[in-house]
Amino acid sequence: MRSLIDILDLSVAEIEELMDLAEDIIAHPDAYAHRLAGKKLATLFFEPSTRTRMSFEAAMYELGGNVISMSSAASSSASKGESVADTVKTVSCYADIIAMRHPKEGAALVASKNASVPVINAGDGGHCHPTQTLADLLTIKREKGGFSNLTVGLCGDLKFGRTVHSLIQALARYEGVRFVLISPEELKVPSYVKRDVLACRGIPYEQTTDLGSALPSLDILYMTRVQRERFFNEEDYLRLKDRYVLTPEKLKDAKPDLSIMHPLPRVNEISVAIDEDKRACYFKQVKYGKYMRMALILKLLKEAEDVH
Ligand code: NCD
Repeated sequence: MRSLIDILDLSVAEIEELMDLAEDIIAHPDAYAHRLAGKKLATLFFEPSTRTRMSFEAAMYELGGNVISMSSAASSSASKGESVADTVKTVSCYADIIAMRHPKEGAALVASKNASVPVINAGDGGHCHPTQTLADLLTIKREKGGFSNLTVGLCGDLKFGRTVHSLIQALARYEGVRFVLISPEELKVPSYVKRDVLACRGIPYEQTTDLGSALPSLDILYMTRVQRERFFNEEDYLRLKDRYVLTPEKLKDAKPDLSIMHPLPRVNEISVAIDEDKRACYFKQVKYGKYMRMALILKLLKEAEDVH
């Protein structure tokens, strides 16, 4: 049974196919409106979400399917002590595919080993978030025409930001990409990402605490929220939360065709004054996320059917 736990579960060619399929859905939505009639998606969210859960649900409805949903751990049997394994074995009896978000790293993998339907990782703790990366990739492709030779700045909480880890893994597979990792000392990219993804393939990257000096060289600036829920103490969060705030003033030295991205939710990282700037792409990411999830659900359900 094919699941999507990590972005590297998809080859570069498969990601290309998903982007082509998403483009086709955007161009011909009516052709897809009944494709998944009679199928059910279960969304199991043990952590808060607005975009990811609703975009999965909107994606399934727009394919003609149905949705059953668990929107919080508190409202489920997890609050009685049920394991992830037992929950997904149960939900496999009700649904054809599962999208799950959980605060523990590795929870999606455990789910995929116990479910009898495909599982999509909608975020596992501070580890990874492959479907946000699918949204990010379609956005970058549409804005930049491709992925080669881009200088990509990632800024903010690079330690706990799961979207950052998955995006680095995905972009590192393209020719000539270089990374500028901008964060406070305490929130640097985890060493396993630097070692296993960047250093081992000789991919150029630099680490800095200074957004201003990095900005002029960037083709993409990916801002992130400091992940309050993963901090051990509130004091550290308060000290770090407003370290980087992108304002129109700071953008003066940026490239005219910079793409400004953010997985959202935004807390204070990008001034709302930038929303009108044509370089702002964060609401495009939201829009493309739904289409990439439609493409992904279609692919995984088709593969599951072919196996049966
Ligand atoms: C992100 C997440 O959940 O990791 N949100 C999202 O899914 N777009 C980013 C975040 O919460 O900061």
